[in-house]
Amino acid sequence: MKKWIRGGTVVTAADTYQADVLIEGERVSAIGHHLPVEDAEVIDASGCYVLPGGIDPHTHLDMPFGGTVTADDFFTGTRAAAFGGTTSIVDFCLTKKGETLRSAIATWHEKARGKAVIDYGFHLMIAEANDQVLEELESVIASEGVTSLKVFMAYKNVFQADDETLFKTLVRAKELGALVQVHAENGDVLDYLTKKALAEGNTAPIYHAYTRPAEAEGEATGRAIALTALADSQLYVVHVSCASAVQRIAEAREKGWNVYGETCPQYLALDISVMDQPDFEGAKYVWSPPLREKWNQEVLWSALKNGILQTVGSDHCPFNFSGQKELGRDDFTKIPNGGPLIEDRMAILYSDGVREGRISLNQFVDVCSTKAAKLFGMFPCKGTIAVGSDADIVIFDPQVKRTISAKTHHMNVDYNPFEGKEVYGEVVSVLSRGSFVVRDKQFVGQAGSGQFIKRSTFAQP
Ligand code: URP
Ligand code: ZN
Ligand code: ZN
Ligand code: ZN
Repeated sequence: MKKWIRGGTVVTAADTYQADVLIEGERVSAIGHHLPVEDAEVIDASGCYVLPGGIDPHTHLDMPFGGTVTADDFFTGTRAAAFGGTTSIVDFCLTKKGETLRSAIATWHEKARGKAVIDYGFHLMIAEANDQVLEELESVIASEGVTSLKVFMAYKNVFQADDETLFKTLVRAKELGALVQVHAENGDVLDYLTKKALAEGNTAPIYHAYTRPAEAEGEATGRAIALTALADSQLYVVHVSCASAVQRIAEAREKGWNVYGETCPQYLALDISVMDQPDFEGAKYVWSPPLREKWNQEVLWSALKNGILQTVGSDHCPFNFSGQKELGRDDFTKIPNGGPLIEDRMAILYSDGVREGRISLNQFVDVCSTKAAKLFGMFPCKGTIAVGSDADIVIFDPQVKRTISAKTHHMNVDYNPFEGKEVYGEVVSVLSRGSFVVRDKQFVGQAGSGQFIKRSTFAQP
């Protein structure tokens, strides 16, 4: 049966207007007033925004990391995403040296199959850029629908790649139409500072931040940009946390280079002070890059507003406090890096962004959905509400005031970094390709209903 979303305010990256939306099967079939509708299920959206489903371009579900595995799998993680208004994710597929890319992708398909409740794509990590990998990339990008690559400039002796690897990846990505992502921190500098801190007996969580200074992120961001320019390629800097990195991205964009950036809710709404709490509480806030001095937050908001940064990813990389974060009680380097954010990404952006007047409602849709769809080859199926696009739609009540808490969230994690934070706005219902996943705040989705998104190659948005 058709679905008829009535009485709401449609919001896209470009427009805000009163209209009804008609869904036939998996797609939007009409938008407007006085639609000639018969035999449709009516969904009342009065007083609500009707938004394109959010796209989270940065998640780590069921991922082995830091001696443990992230606490959300593709079922619990995508279910929590849906509760937060996200209808597509792009998850990071890890690779190991010596393994074929296809085998790594097969492993990730196995993790998602039968579990995901919303659609998902994969980014592919490049651990080494030898001839075999560079050759295999051609068929991966052409036929697997995996069109974005990821190179780590940090996590020495774990994921860190050298400049040669990054440069060769950039050159090949240009030839094949892939977007290269970097985790930009100078891993060698961090390694030196970390060993020094431990040798001096400094083991508390706050030293995670002290040993990863902002300029180490700025330097790596600048270096990745320089290599991109040398390769005449395209770059997307993930989880930008600080002004030094924003400045490098702004300069590159000023020159007209194909450089893009993502920030995350934690860098917009939390600062380094929370890492210095007693009783090891600071471990809940161990991210890489680390939380920064508070003044960086307004730089990040302005960069989103001014288009220097294009997207907001959650970098959802959840670990329980009990049994996982606790691995680093006596040594901050053993605290698994990352936190649970897949569910609250859009709430923080709406509340702290739109309600506080830092970004417009249309910019909220742009940074939470549309730009990611464009940069990662999913537009216009995803990222907008238009005739013919996938009916990935969120009905969002902007008036409701609520409190974020681990007691009520749906992530499979025993804490929430935003515990007690009051936010405006509530996701009422969520449709993924025309079917309800969340209906009147209740989960009605099905494990395995999410489909793999075969993404197009990179096109400058
Ligand atoms: O602390 C973080 N960001 N954990 C996830 C892995 C990564 O670097 O994105
Ligand atoms: Zn009318
Ligand atoms: Zn990273
Ligand atoms: Zn990440």
